[in-house]
Amino acid sequence: MDYKWILHPCTLLQNLACRFLKEIEMEIAGLFAAAFILVVAFAYLVWFWLLSRRLTGPNVWPLVGSLPGLIANRNRIHDWIADNLKSTGPATTYQTSVLPLPFVRQGLVTVTANPRNMEHVLRARFENYPKGPIWQSAFHDLLGLGIFNSDGDTWLLQRKTAALEFTTRTLRLAMARWANRSIKTRLWRILADTSNAASMCSVVDLQDLLLRLTFDNICGLTFGKDPETLSPDLPDNPFARAFDTATEATLQRLLFPGVFWRIKKALNLGSERNLRLSLKVVDRYMTETISVRTNNPSDDLLSRFMKKRDGNGNVFSASVLQWIALNFLLAGRDTSSVALSWFFWTLMQRRDIERKVLAEIASVLRETRGPDASRWVEDPLEFDELERLVYLKAALAETLRLYPSVPEDSKYVVADDVLPDGTVVRAGSTITYSIYSAGRMESIWGDDCLNFKPERWLKLAGDGKKGARLCFEPNMDKYRFVAFNAGPRTCLGKDLAYLQMKTIASAVLLRHRLELVPGHRVQQKMSLTLFMKNGLHVHVRPRNLNFDIDGGVGNLTEFCHVTTNADSTVPIAAAA
Ligand code: HEM
Repeated sequence: MDYKWILHPCTLLQNLACRFLKEIEMEIAGLFAAAFILVVAFAYLVWFWLLSRRLTGPNVWPLVGSLPGLIANRNRIHDWIADNLKSTGPATTYQTSVLPLPFVRQGLVTVTANPRNMEHVLRARFENYPKGPIWQSAFHDLLGLGIFNSDGDTWLLQRKTAALEFTTRTLRLAMARWANRSIKTRLWRILADTSNAASMCSVVDLQDLLLRLTFDNICGLTFGKDPETLSPDLPDNPFARAFDTATEATLQRLLFPGVFWRIKKALNLGSERNLRLSLKVVDRYMTETISVRTNNPSDDLLSRFMKKRDGNGNVFSASVLQWIALNFLLAGRDTSSVALSWFFWTLMQRRDIERKVLAEIASVLRETRGPDASRWVEDPLEFDELERLVYLKAALAETLRLYPSVPEDSKYVVADDVLPDGTVVRAGSTITYSIYSAGRMESIWGDDCLNFKPERWLKLAGDGKKGARLCFEPNMDKYRFVAFNAGPRTCLGKDLAYLQMKTIASAVLLRHRLELVPGHRVQQKMSLTLFMKNGLHVHVRPRNLNFDIDGGVGNLTEFCHVTTNADSTVPIAAAA
């Protein structure tokens, strides 16, 4: 018989004692772990409590910060930010956190619409508030170190070089030429076809047409080649599509902490894969375009930069020229078309303002082209004619006040600082200035701030008597209206954009009366650019100039008296 399995009583006791000790050991370890977690959680909660006492914005929650509020308001983020800012009273500034973790400054955001704070960030302490590493690394694959995506000396050199070009008359003439050509040969044709359609029910997405038109214009201006994405059959252009995809994928990088897109990029997944593929298409197109321009220079921006030298006295390499061109493309492609979409939408609801715009155009054309209205629509307006359209410019500025193409903009904080209103900003955090909110603050624009009122941009030059001239007067305090940014990084294309928008607006309004398709919902798209989410669906009708102008106010000076003395404006309908 084998007795090995029968344990000696001593061994049995030993084993029991061992197991007992082990269990105690594990329990103690468990208790220690639980105590540690409790201490960490407690310390975190104390830290979070101290942090949240300093934060002045919407409700913040442990770990997720203000993200719940952001998600709940995802379809009205700009209005939500404006509401938050209004609730802070005259400060119009709050601080929040989207990632409340100790030692992580990245999630700490200061949001402001206070003109003095904006001036401080955009001008007074400009060096302390660059675009910063998060923005730059996200955009680097698409924009390299071009003007839109660089800081410091790299930015300054390009800025100085470009600023010289943007003030030249030849560049303005080039913009006018590209815009006029695409209006005359394509936009007018498409609108006429729609307005003559037998059923009178055909619908056009005006925003889509405008986006195509301004994309063509900026390509023409930048590298002298019109891709004609605006054509009657609305073609699918591989370069335009690739550029759109690359921009969209790049913007997605900004939604989550950088580590996410870096992992996706390394694994070549999803939007990062799309980005890589579309960048190849963009690169091929640009390489070809640059080589054509090298052999055959023209008056476009690319040709102008080819003649310039960098800081070391060398000509720019092909890859730098590609960055430069792509940066201008991104900066100037959608902003004007988006502004025009909101402008036309507003005019469809405010026929009184549309009549004033038409009356002004008619009064200029009567002088320059004579009384026969058929001559007014033969060609788009010339540069000198456009310069005289001050009411139209005011209506466009008013559109940008309420619907800025770039609704929010952000800067990185290099070193701890104190804003003029006393808000302390920490190094490594972000400061967002809400351009959208700044245009809607009662404290900035008065209690009619939500009214669409072009007259707020106009004044009578002289003594205000008969014969006095109506002038467009950009608001004295530049930091109240920052739709074109302000300070050293002010939009370089501002004057070109007004020129282009005035050309297109007058060309459309003189020939057509637009009507919003019943039931079409105009909504803001939550993006870095204020697109209309569902486009702008309109019926296009022929314009009866005699009727529309006679029904308006023919005499400008008289209309100026009428509108500056009487507050005839009514609130515009809010875009849902
Ligand atoms: C309604 C039309 C436009 C609006 C509302 C607009 C607005 C802006 C804003 C807000 C910025 C500052 C962006 C930032 O630094 O974060 C900017 C910069 C810039 N814009 Fe525009 N823009 C318009 C049209 C154009 C056009 C047509 C061009 C070119 C032809 C252009 C060229 C630029 C350039 C080059 C910059 C970069 C300036 C710099 O960083 O030094 N923009 N624009």
